[in-house]
Amino acid sequence: MTLQPVPDTAIIVVAAGSGTRLGADAPKALVGIDERTILRHALDGVFSAAPMQVVVVAPAGYEGVAETVLHAAAGDRADLGRVVTGGDTRQGSVARGLAALWGDVSTVLVHDAARALTPAALIDAVARAVRDGGADAGVIPALPVVDTLKRVEAADVVDAVDRSALASAQTPQGFRREPLEAAYAVALAAGAEYTDDAALYAAAGHPVRHIPGSERAFKITVPADLERARHLLAGAPAARTPPPPSSSGLPRIGVGTDVHAFGGEGNLWLAGLEWPGEQPLSGHSDGDAVAHAIVDALLAAAGLGDIGEHFGTAHPEYAGAHADVFLARTRELLGAAGFVIGNVSVQFQGNRPRFSPRRAEAERALSAALGGAPVAVAATTTDGLGFPGRGEGVAVTAVALVVPYPGR
Ligand code: CTP
Ligand code: MG
Repeated sequence: MTLQPVPDTAIIVVAAGSGTRLGADAPKALVGIDERTILRHALDGVFSAAPMQVVVVAPAGYEGVAETVLHAAAGDRADLGRVVTGGDTRQGSVARGLAALWGDVSTVLVHDAARALTPAALIDAVARAVRDGGADAGVIPALPVVDTLKRVEAADVVDAVDRSALASAQTPQGFRREPLEAAYAVALAAGAEYTDDAALYAAAGHPVRHIPGSERAFKITVPADLERARHLLAGAPAARTPPPPSSSGLPRIGVGTDVHAFGGEGNLWLAGLEWPGEQPLSGHSDGDAVAHAIVDALLAAAGLGDIGEHFGTAHPEYAGAHADVFLARTRELLGAAGFVIGNVSVQFQGNRPRFSPRRAEAERALSAALGGAPVAVAATTTDGLGFPGRGEGVAVTAVALVVPYPGR
């Protein structure tokens, strides 16, 4: 057995956040991008960089899962990795990671697991820039700001901001260990929370420089970021290659149905509306059978598979999502495949809710989520027959017409 040299560099991968803004039903780091989680992708990058100690800061209660992911990503570098439990804030989580560093480590990188697609070359570049810097060097990757920025007060634009003087910060951020630990101790004693490690380090009087960041080091924060990561990994706007729209240029139709049982807590969500006081429908998302039937009809019309493929349990970011999210994403998928939505017709079967008082409102909400395509919703009871008639649940059928873009 050959003994590996003990590395002088460590990376703390903070993965203990809950991912409130992503809104999945699992901690963000454990949400799948493809068949691999955010944490796994982040660690794949880390273990493709030069060997260094790897401290994964995991959500409390998920240390075992993180351990498994770490081992799978580490390959023959498993000895370099360990998992510690996170704190209540990101800063608290970094502090837990710092406490787990080996004695020989003199350069520390702090990295967000949420920046899952960060290239290994960026990790190496930050580590190198710290080692090449002074005794208290701090280094962050940053990208130029591309948007035009304004200073605002309430509804007023009060000033233009010179964006050439601004950069947007990424991770990993790299520091010398001793000044970083000292700066953390000072922040802890003062009860001060900083937006990132570089700010905490600079507040202790140390210099921080920036090197060019990477577009791929963006942070997965909201569902659209997760989609961006998926598209980057798939290398194409839609994961599945759609069939070519008919050479005739004729419109295409699709049909979708959905059935949900009544059950669960809270209010009913149906046809994109919340129905206070009505019994909810159970399901992976909000149980909105009208929205789900429409999604299937649209996907079928475009030959893009079905709702389970694009929004099922493999996509926990859609758990609890409402119709507007599903329908807007479906419209994007269709757009990427070369289709615009013609119109949608929906037939609802069930005793409750009574649709007629809110029909126009439902049609407006659904249509808005589909970019303005007309949506018609009809509702009927089943004369007491079957499960809808017994009040056990609802059944919905939708038909959609889609039109290939001219010239496709
Ligand atoms: N993080 C952490 N411990 C915390 C909070 C955040 O380790 N108590 C980590 C996250 O796991 C993430 C990184 O810090 O990798 C950046 O934080 P952010 O993107 O804000 O993630 P979350 O806090 O999980 O998301 P949200 O703010 O939407 O809840
Ligand atoms: Mg956060």
